[in-house]
Amino acid sequence: MAEGNRFSEELAAFYEATHDHGDIGDESFYLDAAASAAGPVLEGACGTGRLYLELLRNGVDADGFDISPAMLDILREKAASEGLTPTVWEADLRAVDADRSYALALVPYNSMCNLQRVDDQLAALEAFHDVLEAGGRLLFDVYVPRYDVIAESFGEWQAVREVEYEGTTLRGRSRADIADQVSQTYRTEQELLDADGEVVACDEFALSHLPPQQVELLARQSPFDQWSVQGGFDGEPLADGDGIQVWELRK
Ligand SMILES: C[S@@+](CC[C@H](N)C(=O)[O-])C[C@H]1O[C@@H](n2cnc3c(N)ncnc32)[C@H](O)[C@@H]1O
Repeated sequence: MAEGNRFSEELAAFYEATHDHGDIGDESFYLDAAASAAGPVLEGACGTGRLYLELLRNGVDADGFDISPAMLDILREKAASEGLTPTVWEADLRAVDADRSYALALVPYNSMCNLQRVDDQLAALEAFHDVLEAGGRLLFDVYVPRYDVIAESFGEWQAVREVEYEGTTLRGRSRADIADQVSQTYRTEQELLDADGEVVACDEFALSHLPPQQVELLARQSPFDQWSVQGGFDGEPLADGDGIQVWELRK
């Protein structure tokens, strides 16, 4: 299996520092879906637990997995500090590796874009289908690729922010760039710099755009029986101008 997009310890800390406030607009959508699920819930690519821990806080019977041990370490530390008992493990979206079945699976916040090849994307849909109960649902959101954003911001360093890491203040920044014009994959680089401007940590991730036509073709090719998409988290149809596709695939 190909290497996945794993966060280093330093960049996991940066992710947590920049996402520790929780809600980025998706929380009530996923929480409502999880709270009304007729059985256990699984979050794929749960990261540092931005949503996963919110599920536990609300009494949802939820498991999670992620490919980055450094992200899971932060999740476990936060859970311990709140007296929560997480059930999370290291696994790939293409394999899942769960030992029970679920009424609902979630893959929030563009995490499906970590899969670049059609085989990888289909393998993930098949893996989730395998661990869902009959009638179970897979929910995930991915951004709508925008040519204007690609043209304007690709190649430029963005969002210099500070993070405390092991007693030192570091500045974080990220840059997206085309990796392969033909396959329409891209890479993001994330760097942490010290006070002298020296790079002390960097991660590079390979990602893919997932326009709605491609997701629909993947759904058609997958073992799921039904699928639908909405634009954003308010239940409206996907329409021109929307920034987020929210997909539901039903077994
Ligand atoms: C944008 S973060 C989202 C984390 C979390 N779901 C959230 O909403 O804050 C993407 C996550 O995907 C994980 N990831 C990347 N590739 C993966 C793969 N192939 N299988 C499982 N997790 C993966 C990363 O480690 C990271 O935690």
